[in-house]
Amino acid sequence: MTNLPDIKPQTQHARLSREKYIGVEGQFRLSDIAAACGMSPVYVARVLGRKAFYSVDDALLLLDDDAFSETLVPRSKVLDWLLSAKGGTRSVSLPELRDGYALVLQDALDFIRSLPSESVNCVVTSTPYWGLRVYKDSKERVWADGDSAVFGHEQTPEAFVRHTTEVLHELLRVLTPTGSIWWNVMDTFNTRTQIRGNAVEALRAMQGQDKRTWAEHGCRRYSAGHSYLKDGEQCLIPSRIAERAGRIGLYVKSVITWDKTSTLPEPQDSRVSRNLEYVLHLTKVRAPQFDKSAYRELSPALGGRNSEWETDKLSDVWTLPTSSGGEGHGAQFPLSLPGRCIALSTGPGDVILDPFVGSGTTGLAALALGRTFIGSDVSSEYLATAERRLSVAASSKVAAE
Ligand SMILES: C[S@@+](CC[C@H](N)C(=O)[O-])C[C@H]1O[C@@H](n2cnc3c(N)ncnc32)[C@H](O)[C@@H]1O
Repeated sequence: MTNLPDIKPQTQHARLSREKYIGVEGQFRLSDIAAACGMSPVYVARVLGRKAFYSVDDALLLLDDDAFSETLVPRSKVLDWLLSAKGGTRSVSLPELRDGYALVLQDALDFIRSLPSESVNCVVTSTPYWGLRVYKDSKERVWADGDSAVFGHEQTPEAFVRHTTEVLHELLRVLTPTGSIWWNVMDTFNTRTQIRGNAVEALRAMQGQDKRTWAEHGCRRYSAGHSYLKDGEQCLIPSRIAERAGRIGLYVKSVITWDKTSTLPEPQDSRVSRNLEYVLHLTKVRAPQFDKSAYRELSPALGGRNSEWETDKLSDVWTLPTSSGGEGHGAQFPLSLPGRCIALSTGPGDVILDPFVGSGTTGLAALALGRTFIGSDVSSEYLATAERRLSVAASSKVAAE
């Protein structure tokens, strides 16, 4: 198991230095300055007028505007980010497909950066959640806010939300105009705890089978030192991600509750137990590609109506089983979840992306529905599992044809 440092939510103190930018020249595109300041391009143009490029002074004015809100870099670093942002297109081509799919061993953000603009019809993914799991082969990377951190192991939930927003900002570029992003995420409580590799380890600990003391654990989360979160308080990470997605230009179409049919027991006396995760449905346009009839036509295994729990109305509460985790990954989602997302928002042959591929469940759903699939993960072990599952699915499909 990868050894990662403890998480101590000590909020760093920093403030914007205006003096640093006296005499500094900059030319910023409307889309960049709007995304960095959490405002729509229309609002920025209303405040500053419509211009080919915006200056350092323009950016400083927006940082003082009541409508300013942090997105992918904190206020003190917005100008540094705008000054370092590289314009133009960074894309080359989609990775070469074999049997309708491609898996790449790469950090998610780097992989998305390598993709052509408007080349992906749909993203279905479940990222690491903040401070909850230690994944194999996790690696630090440098983020736009200057942090060097493993995704999901940032020192504060705010840093995790910023890094998530940076990934979403890059996805906005690669998504087709009528495409959809389905973002599965769960919340974290600001508690002192041990961070384990998977749910089975957590259950063993609850059953008293893990005899290690707090000090003996390889990776721990502390709860003290945050600028306002108190010990035991819910961090509200999914809502914060949804809000920022809207601020960088995506439409928040729905915040879907995934009502899980089974969850781990929680040894908590002071609050209700959690039974849900969230799926954020994010799009570029008000009316994306969307076919509600898929809900009634698909098999339940691929995300059609789960007749034991769900009514005929496709609502924003999805009652879907929790994966058995039988592939040894420990954080898989059930096939029905990506299956439903893909069937609702794409057509045959469309390109589906999962930049946090894990054991490849999104890829399996994509192939079963006749779509193409590309995915990345930082772990060669998880990718090998995904490769095994996808190659079996692709060859049984060929045999059936
Ligand atoms: C929640 S799991 C995804 C599980 C997947 N949905 C499935 O059903 O198997 C998150 C995955 O993200 C991978 N991961 C973590 N950080 C990453 C990064 N920076 N880039 C790409 N993958 C990453 C982990 O290795 C893990 O496999």
